[in-house]
Amino acid sequence: MKADMADHDPREEPMATEIQHYTPTAKWLHWIMAVLIVLLLVLGFYLSGLPRGPEKTTLIQVHKAIGTIVLALAIVRLVWRLKHPAPLLPASITALQQKATHAVHWALYALMFAQPLSGWAMSSARGFPVALGGIIPLPALAMKNEALGKTLTQVHEFIGWALAVVVIGHVAMALKHHFVDRDGILLRMWPRYGTGTD
Ligand code: HEM
Repeated sequence: MKADMADHDPREEPMATEIQHYTPTAKWLHWIMAVLIVLLLVLGFYLSGLPRGPEKTTLIQVHKAIGTIVLALAIVRLVWRLKHPAPLLPASITALQQKATHAVHWALYALMFAQPLSGWAMSSARGFPVALGGIIPLPALAMKNEALGKTLTQVHEFIGWALAVVVIGHVAMALKHHFVDRDGILLRMWPRYGTGTD
C-alpha cells in the first residue's frame, strides 16, 4: 500500500480504494453535531450583542435546548468513539501531522463537553432552570450565586471563542486536504462516499 501511495500523483483524483472510512454512525453523529454546533456558535455570538427583551429570551431558550441536545449527543459520540477507533490515516500523512490531527480531534471532543457544561453551570448559578431539549428538567449544576454566575458567563464566552477558532482551523484543514492535497481525507467522513462498518 505504501508503494502505491508513493506512486500516486496527489493532483490526480484521490485513490478511492486507499481511503478508509468512519462508520455510518460516526458520520451521522459528526455531521448532525457539526450543524448544531455551528448554529449554536452563531446564535451565541448574536445573542451576546442583543439588548434584553422578548427576542433575546426566546433565542436563549432555543440556544439552551440545542446546547443540552449537543451535550447528550457528545456523550453518545464519545462512548461510540471509545469503542470504535478512527480509521487509520493514509501513509501520505506524516507522523507529526497525525499527532496534530489527533490533538485537534481530542481538543474538539473536550470543547464539545466543556461548552454545554459551562453554559449549564452558568444558567444554574444565575438561577435559571435547564432542561434537556427544553423539555426534560435537569438538576442545577451550581448553587445560585451572582458572582459565580458572572465568572461562568466569562468562562462560557471564552470557551465559545476557543471552540470557534478550533472549528475554523479544523474546517480549513479538511478543505485544504480535499482541494489542495487531494488525499481523500474529507471523503473518510463524507456521508455517501463509501462505508465503514458499524
Ligand atoms: C462544518 C465543517 C466540517 C468539516 C468539513 C469537517 C470535516 C471533518 C473530517 C474530514 C473529519 C475526519 C478527519 C479524518 O479523516 O481523520 C472530521 C473529524 C472530526 N470532526 Fe469535523 N468537520 C466539520 C465540522 C466539525 C465541527 C463543528 C466539529 C465539532 C465541534 C467537528 C468535530 C470533529 C471531530 C471530533 C472529529 C474526529 C472524529 C473522530 O475521530 O472521532 N467537526 N471532521
